[in-house]
Amino acid sequence: MKIICTRDEASFDSTMSEILISQITSKKDGVIGLSTGRTTGNLHKITARVFVEKGFEVGETTFFALDEVTGIDRENPWACYTKLKNEMLDALGVDDDHFLAFPTKSDDFEGECKKLTSEIEKRGGADLIILGLGENGHLGFNQPGSDFEGGACVSTMDDDLQRRIKEDCGLPESAVLGGVTLGIKDIMSAKKLILAVKGSSKAAILKKVMYGPVTNDVPASILQTHPDCTVVVDKAAAGE
Ligand code: GLP
Repeated sequence: MKIICTRDEASFDSTMSEILISQITSKKDGVIGLSTGRTTGNLHKITARVFVEKGFEVGETTFFALDEVTGIDRENPWACYTKLKNEMLDALGVDDDHFLAFPTKSDDFEGECKKLTSEIEKRGGADLIILGLGENGHLGFNQPGSDFEGGACVSTMDDDLQRRIKEDCGLPESAVLGGVTLGIKDIMSAKKLILAVKGSSKAAILKKVMYGPVTNDVPASILQTHPDCTVVVDKAAAGE
């Protein structure tokens, strides 16, 4: 694993945006996976701003959402589909043919998982996936205990994220939210991975991810075995 340590949050966000823009412009029909959350929101917004102010070639790049919240409407601002469109993809003029995402609701998630993974394959496979890290070591919605050989699937959501979504959307405490996600195997088959980690709340888990044993108790620890994985951190996340 390579590591890029940035001095603060602002430099983390701009470094991440430079990495993304350089990937977009390096291949005109590239395939790029994106994650949503507190870590990646700014990098998407900065990328959109650079596009509007200076412009760069987006070409025929396909973007995909690594995962999706299930049980809410797709137009809900917490849906990864809507978040990614609002934060960046609409500003870049990316149409629905070039943006692959799981649905938030379906009677056949198994079929939807197959559809998304085979569409990514058809387009040549992921050149880059930008990953966020859960405080419990999750990748996408691959929670602790997930099979390293597992493909896309419906999974559970950690309590903290459920609580934030329910509070924000005014959903009852009893509501059960879940997630659908590319599997660890799909993530590991990307040519290049960037694990983006910022903030002191991630310092302890990041130490385990990078220097602890490779174990599915800490799903992101599998990244130690990827041939081209770079961890980008701010000083706070690098604390331990
Ligand atoms: C969420 C999402 C992930 C995201 C991660 C980190 O649960 N399922 O795709 O990368 O957790 O989120 P945050 O950046 O808000 O900490």
